[in-house]
Amino acid sequence: MKPLRVALLGCGTVGSEVVRLLHEQAADLTARIGAPLELAGVAVRRLDRTREHVAPELLTTDAMGLVTREDVDIVVEVIGGIEPARSLLLAAMKSGKSVVTANKALLAEDGETIFGAAREYGADLYYEAAVAGAIPLLRPLRESLVGDHVKRVIGIVNGTTNYILDRMDSCGASFSDALEEAQELGYAEADPTADVEGFDAAAKAAILAQLAFHTPVSAADVHREGITEVSAADVAGAKAMDSVVKLLAICERVPDPEGRNNGGRGVSVRVYPAMIPRSHPLASVREAYNAVFVEAESAGSLMFYGAGAGGAPTASAVLGDLVAVARNRVGGTRGPVEVTYAELPVLPMGETITRYYIQLDVADRSGVLAQIAELFARHDVSIQAVRQEGYGEDAQLVIVTHRAPDAALAATVEGLRRLDIVREVSSVMRVEADEIA
Ligand code: NDP
Ligand code: HSE
Repeated sequence: MKPLRVALLGCGTVGSEVVRLLHEQAADLTARIGAPLELAGVAVRRLDRTREHVAPELLTTDAMGLVTREDVDIVVEVIGGIEPARSLLLAAMKSGKSVVTANKALLAEDGETIFGAAREYGADLYYEAAVAGAIPLLRPLRESLVGDHVKRVIGIVNGTTNYILDRMDSCGASFSDALEEAQELGYAEADPTADVEGFDAAAKAAILAQLAFHTPVSAADVHREGITEVSAADVAGAKAMDSVVKLLAICERVPDPEGRNNGGRGVSVRVYPAMIPRSHPLASVREAYNAVFVEAESAGSLMFYGAGAGGAPTASAVLGDLVAVARNRVGGTRGPVEVTYAELPVLPMGETITRYYIQLDVADRSGVLAQIAELFARHDVSIQAVRQEGYGEDAQLVIVTHRAPDAALAATVEGLRRLDIVREVSSVMRVEADEIA
């Protein structure tokens, strides 16, 4: 029953909840692990703050000194960002510690170095909290589904943006008011740009794609569009189509028609706001909740749903990992290592097959629709539906396309913007997820 000594790096939204759970559930955790967990130290930036359940002498600003201490067995990193988190995790693994992190930014930007170090030093590396907060999603991909062939992962993986879009849809809140609320509730990253510009979701998409397809994917490979351009007109347009706007992360294995590369031409990994039908299960994901569909060849469609952000939910995932690495240490074993043997190329966004919703104001006179239809035909984009409402001399057109390469759809929109008869292209949004309702 020798205690396992834990160094906690960061004691903010997530870290303070990790401390609370360690304190309140100490007896249960000891019984589940077979040894008690003991806090060896807590690294923070500011020493002058009172931290509940942390004895002042445990606090330090010397994070590197803490992670390399001989009496530390496990390092939990909830600082976030690239540095000093990367150097701290590398030093921890090098000195034989097991590591738990919630740091998706680091894993997505430089996963190769972090996973490489775990392999080189034989260290346990768990990171369930890095994607979708409390939802057990990475462990199922890493372990339960590792014998299957994952085809697609699609979902809502950023709580802050889902909260904002939900408030804009349900009560007409402004973008900035909704963002402020999300920040107050502890969902947003330290710099909310990471949330609203889609960087956070892109980092999570990279981690998901890498695990799902056993292929190296970094944040830089992910096509990313955030929600700052989503307007009240887009939200209203979606409503009129009985749809909602959601920031989606989509990871797809694109089959090779000739069966090369183990049947995969490549992978498409992308994050953007898209319209989805209100009847789709993802449309009912409200507030800061996350939901992810995994489609695998043999398992079929699996849905994961729950709290994707916030101190306590995220701390639950961190604690789960902490117990896992502690059990491994007690049993003298280690968890699974990441393998990226597939080496599939990440395909450019232009080759991705999507659908568009386009709303435009045009002159209401003969030949207008014909010119517009000719432009779509020139780019080989097939129109699925058209709706027109007249306003005096002008009309508002709503066009929904069939599926086409994104490059052709984007070129069509550019062409529309250049047509004299088009006064304004007022809303352009991709349409997704209607095939898995
Ligand atoms: P916070 O900003 O609330 O907390 C960060 C903590 O790290 C603070 O305690 C801060 O110290 C400390 N810190 C910052 N820089 C240093 C440094 N150089 N040395 C030592 N300590 C430092 O972040 P969160 O708790 O929200 O997020 C932590 C991690 O969890 C991030 O990787 C984030 O992406 C991830 N995550 C967060 C979720 C959430 O809902 N918040 C959900 C899922 C993952 P001080 O207190 O003195 O300022
Ligand atoms: N800022 C992130 C979100 C926290 O809003 O989802 C969870 O990673």
